[in-house]
This record gives sequence, C-alpha cells and structure tokens, in this order.
Amino acid sequence: MTQQVEAEGTEPAPGAGYGTSDDALEGLLDLADPQPRYKGWIDGGGVLCPIDGLAIAASRSVVDDVLRHPETFTSRDVVQLGNVRPLIPLSLDPPDHLGYRKLLDPLFAPKRMDAIEADIAARVNHFIDAVADRGGCNFTEELAVPFPSAVFLGLMGLPWEELDNFLRMKDGIIRPGGATLMEAESVDPAERKRIQDQTAQDIYDYFNAVLDERQRRPEDDILSGFLQAEVDGRRLTREDILDICFLFLIAGLDTVTDSLTCFFAFLAQHPDHRRQIAENPAVIPAAVEELLRWETPVPGVPRMATTESELAGCPVKAGTMVMVSLGAANVDPAEFAEPFEVRFDRQTNRHLGFGGGVHRCLGSHLARRELRVTLREWHRRIPEYSLKPGSELHYARGLRSVENLELIW
Ligand code: HEM
Repeated sequence: MTQQVEAEGTEPAPGAGYGTSDDALEGLLDLADPQPRYKGWIDGGGVLCPIDGLAIAASRSVVDDVLRHPETFTSRDVVQLGNVRPLIPLSLDPPDHLGYRKLLDPLFAPKRMDAIEADIAARVNHFIDAVADRGGCNFTEELAVPFPSAVFLGLMGLPWEELDNFLRMKDGIIRPGGATLMEAESVDPAERKRIQDQTAQDIYDYFNAVLDERQRRPEDDILSGFLQAEVDGRRLTREDILDICFLFLIAGLDTVTDSLTCFFAFLAQHPDHRRQIAENPAVIPAAVEELLRWETPVPGVPRMATTESELAGCPVKAGTMVMVSLGAANVDPAEFAEPFEVRFDRQTNRHLGFGGGVHRCLGSHLARRELRVTLREWHRRIPEYSLKPGSELHYARGLRSVENLELIW
C-alpha cells in the first residue's frame, strides 16, 4: 500500500499519491475496514491517479475542490441504472439543477419532517414489535431493509401492502439477480441489464398509474405535491416526476438501510457508546452525525472531468472518472481533531456523509429523522444488545453496509 503509483507506461504524476492501481481500485470497493486505507490516501498526498482515466480525490481540500466545481467535474451521465432519461436532479448540472432543487428542497425541509416524525416512529415500532420479545433478530432483514421503504410508502400516500412490491422494484435496480452491482461477478451482465431494464419499466409504469390517480384525487402526500409544485412559473412534467421518483428509489432507501446496519454493528461492539445513547437520548443527534462521519455509508460519489484540469498536482484529462472519496475526507485531520476517534461530543462536525456542493443530499433531513427516531425507539425498548456469538460481520462492496447483522439481547 505504500508504493508510488506507476500506471503502466507512464511516469508517476506529481502528487499522484501512492498505492498500486490494484490497491487503489480494490480500496474503493472493499469497505470492511476502510479507515486505515483512507488515512494512507490522505497521508500520501490526498489524490491518487492509479490508472489512466481514473483519479481518486481523498483529502478534504481536494474533495471540496471537485464537489464545488460541477462545471469541471460533472455528474451528468455517470449513473446508468436502467433509467431511460437522466436522473433528476442528480444527473443535471447547474443552472438546470437549481430550478429542480428550489422546487424539491421545501418538500424535504425540517418542518415537513417534524410533521411526519410520529408516523416514522410508528413505522419503526412496527418492526421492533415483531422482534422485541424474541431476544434476537436479523437486524438487516427484519428492520434495516424494510423500514426505509415503509417510510416512503407513508410519504407517497401508498398502503402498507405495497411494501413487497417496493422492495422488489428497488432490488431489481440495485441488486439485479440478487447481487449488489459491485458483487455482480456471479450474475451474467446481459441478464443483469435485462432485469434492470425490465424493473426500470415497471417503476415508470407503477408511478405513472399512481400519478394518474393523484391527478384525479389529490392527497396530502409528496406525489400530489409534485403535481402541484411550480418553479419560475413552470410545472414539473410527467417525465420530470417519473425521473425524480426513479432517483428516490435508488437514493433514498438503501442508503438509510446501509447507515442503520453500520450504526448498529458499531454500537453492538462499543458498549460505552451504546450506553451514552440509552442513558441520554439527547446525545442522539450528535451520535447520528458522528456515526455518519465515521461509517460514511456512501463512501464515494463519481464525477467526470469535462476539461483538462489538475487536482493537487495530479493532471486530470477530460473524460477522466473522478471518484470522490467522502469516507477519506471524513477522516482528514485537516478538518477533524482526532479523526480516528468516535466522539459523540464533537463541538463541530462538518462531515461529508451527505456529500457536498450543489448535489448535497436532498433527503438529508428525512434520513436524519429516520436514523434519530430508530436510535431513540430501539434504545428505549432494547438498551442492551450485542452481536450474536459466532456471527461474522460481512460488509458489502461499493456501499458500506452489513449483510445479515445478527443481534441478540
Ligand atoms: C443516510 C442516508 C443517506 C445518505 C448517506 C445519502 C447520501 C447522499 C450523497 C452522498 C449524495 C450526493 C451524491 C452526489 O454528489 O453524487 C446524495 C444525494 C441525493 N440524495 Fe441522499 N443520502 C441518504 C438518504 C437519502 C434519502 C432518504 C433521500 C430521499 C429523498 C435521498 C435523496 C437524494 C437525492 C435526490 C440526491 C441527489 C441530489 C442532487 O443531485 O441535487 N437521500 N445522498
């Protein structure tokens, strides 16, 4: 991990960081114990150019530089998951992007989240009820996976009976053939694409039908909100709304699942931190921020260089894919005192768990509310728990998440 980068046939670029190209590429995917690797990336200069066409932005300053310059590092077309049009607003650059955010931000503002907090609490308690007296559960499968989708059903005014259908649509895009996109070696690529394309069509058809219904009979839900919302005198088109709904399924469900599994795996192994939450729920908002920093469940976001440029001395050609390591930036000592300690008493915590720049997470207030309410309700009812003896933690590749997290109490 400590050699200078030497892509075949090229001289190492100044500031090109360190690590073999295989180390660097593997480092983006293997998330079992990523923080020591992130430290190496930062200590090595904060930017890696392991192979022609790929750069990894790691230090906080380089990451900020990329995220704050969407004209040079675009997110246009970098995510292709069966969608037939660009994802809104993720695949749009300013100035088009701004109009959509002006419209969408108020629908996910903290005040809106205050109004649905009781509903979020009822939904998480539904899943806790099912396991509380049992003395143990598969936390991933029995709470972390279904809960965020159940919250979305509420937001969209859809009945509980739609839960399985929702989970199927989400998984058809994110886990076509049963494997995550980064673990899909086992699934034939053509079959994977077929499943994704079919699921994408199902998603468009599904939301089209619900929107027809809401057009006839508006309700107090987010889909009816989309139909009525206006920005600069313009209403969203039906395709706009479908492209937004498609992105919500990808961006708003697994991310919360992943965060919950990482948080509870950490807390199950760190009784002192767990007790701080159980004994003093007022610490929960700070604990959520600190665990988002430390775990960084969305460890990186992709960008594409639109022109020739340079990152901390590393030349970047147009067309280079830049992986922005939010996880590395979140342990940069230039930003965080004692970055390798998990401390719920940090006074300031400007973490990048929700990204940064114009594409910073639209759903951050919703995500925070889901995470806070789950920590509060779970620890109120099940304050002491641990990993099931003999169970091993298996972290998925690509997004940091614990598969089959077995807890006992
Ligand atoms: C803990 C849970 C979550 C995490 C860690 C997370 C993380 C992120 C990150 C890192 C980005 C930036 C992507 C980029 O720059 O390329 C992002 C964007 C986004 N997130 Fe989240 N997210 C979470 C939950 C949610 C939820 C619940 C929603 C539901 C509305 C959501 C909707 C979005 C959308 C629509 C974008 C794109 C924003 C834009 O392009 O302007 N996210 N999220």
